[in-house]
Amino acid sequence: MMDQAEKLRQAIDNLKLKQSVNRSPMAIPQIKRAARVITVTSGKGGVGKTNISINLAIALSEQGYRVVILDADFGLANIDVLFGIVPKYTLLNVIRNEKSILEIISEGPMNTRFISGGSGVEELLKLDRQQIMKFVESIALLDKLADIIIVDTGAGLSENIISFIMAADEVLLVTTPEPTSITDAYALIKTVSNRDKSKRIRLIVNRVDSVDEANDVSNKLVLVADKFLGIKVEPTGYIMQDEAVTKAVKHQKPFALTHPKSMATRNIRDICAKLIDKNGFEDAHHSSGIRGFMNKLISFMKA
Ligand SMILES: Nc1ncnc2c1ncn2[C@@H]1O[C@H](COP(=O)(O)OP(=O)(O)OP(=O)(O)O)[C@@H](O)[C@H]1O
Ligand SMILES: [Mg+2]
Repeated sequence: MMDQAEKLRQAIDNLKLKQSVNRSPMAIPQIKRAARVITVTSGKGGVGKTNISINLAIALSEQGYRVVILDADFGLANIDVLFGIVPKYTLLNVIRNEKSILEIISEGPMNTRFISGGSGVEELLKLDRQQIMKFVESIALLDKLADIIIVDTGAGLSENIISFIMAADEVLLVTTPEPTSITDAYALIKTVSNRDKSKRIRLIVNRVDSVDEANDVSNKLVLVADKFLGIKVEPTGYIMQDEAVTKAVKHQKPFALTHPKSMATRNIRDICAKLIDKNGFEDAHHSSGIRGFMNKLISFMKA
């Protein structure tokens, strides 16, 4: 009979094997220290965070990166709905010491994987120091399994969401051209800038009607953030208003798979290229990985 440790080792080997099948050899990093943690967030809700998280994960996976999405929108099931998969276990089971991290990872399409946060964040706050250390050690396995971890958060300025932003290596802030969405994005940038002006915020403008409109929104936000808040916001792309998105959502499938030639998918590929361009794995060297992320997250939440 296999003991627990042996089972775990085999599970890891299986995951590695599976991943290596679909990877282009060019993309395999030579030195890999820790996963790059990217938090996807927005000021206003419903602007496209979950769609961007999932389709970006697929685009990155197509480029040979191993991606895990963490669904940190604890209010509503998000990723599950768009993947059409309901995971049996969540991060909560790991926090409660009932399951290992490998047992709560679900397989998504195109070699992506995802983890449901469940009501894990609330539970994290109840742990004592030793329990936290134990939890962080168990989740640290993700640094070995993933090159990039995408954290899909809820919208808004709640303390928990701000903690997810402050703990991440990079932030992808999503807005639409709607004035309310832009104002809420600005409010979020302001909150972040009050805590750390060196935080890396990348901006994505979703649901635009034209490239001009995207540039307009980006330029405005970059300018006011620089002038009034003294923080750098990096324009990282746009996604056109595209009915491929709504159609795919209805079928609970990522649009990058159902509509690979659509405008939205091309836009996602452009964003993906920006993320992995030049500082792709450079960033990973500076990244403190999921271990650093969780440590920071917990300390911010407890502060
Ligand atoms: N580029 C787009 N073109 C057309 N429709 C879009 C586009 N992006 C998003 N949508 C629509 O907006 C809806 C909301 O998207 P999504 O669930 O990704 O937003 P969210 O920011 O994750 O929302 P929440 O804040 O509730 O988590 C989608 O179901 C889709 O109908
Ligand atoms: Mg969402």
